[in-house]
Amino acid sequence: MKALVIYDSIFGNTEKIAQAIGSALGAPGDVQVLRVGDVKPEQLTGLDLLIVGSPTRAFRPTATISQFLGGIPAGGLSGVRVAGFDTRILPEDTGSPILRFMMKLFGWAAKPIADKLVRKGGLLAIPPEGFAVKGSEGPLAEGELERATEWARKIAAAG
Ligand SMILES: Cc1cc2nc3c(=O)[nH]c(=O)nc-3n(C[C@H](O)[C@H](O)[C@H](O)COP(=O)(O)O)c2cc1C
Repeated sequence: MKALVIYDSIFGNTEKIAQAIGSALGAPGDVQVLRVGDVKPEQLTGLDLLIVGSPTRAFRPTATISQFLGGIPAGGLSGVRVAGFDTRILPEDTGSPILRFMMKLFGWAAKPIADKLVRKGGLLAIPPEGFAVKGSEGPLAEGELERATEWARKIAAAG
């Protein structure tokens, strides 16, 4: 299985989740984990699995991740299994009722990422998933690296 995990990360939390996912998917020869700015177009060819993750910022993926997804040619992911994840703050961890309401209304980054990957021809390998941080700069909530490992193992097992 040739797999690529692409992520963006400002404070390092999404990077940790991406690395945990990459390690759980298989041997380093088969799986690459790359920051979105380091991906070259030719690295998207011949893939069996593409996973994309972003911090949630204003209910969406980062601009860099959105630009990357927008740049994938139409049908460019035909036959590729795909999945999206994000890091996020849980509604119950925000002090603001208005923000809590907006989070529930507008959502997080993982679903728009997965939707975009599917629109480019990908086959959804697993529903989008979010991993919690305790504040804007982190740290990751307890148990989230383990949950990311489990999520990735499910993807590998289904392949
Ligand atoms: C400007 C800004 C906007 C954010 N917007 C959201 C948001 O809409 N929903 C949410 O759950 N978390 C939001 N967060 C928290 C981020 O999700 C958190 O910083 C991110 O998960 C950390 O990942 P990173 O360490 O990889 O950058 C925001 C943080 C910042 C700084």
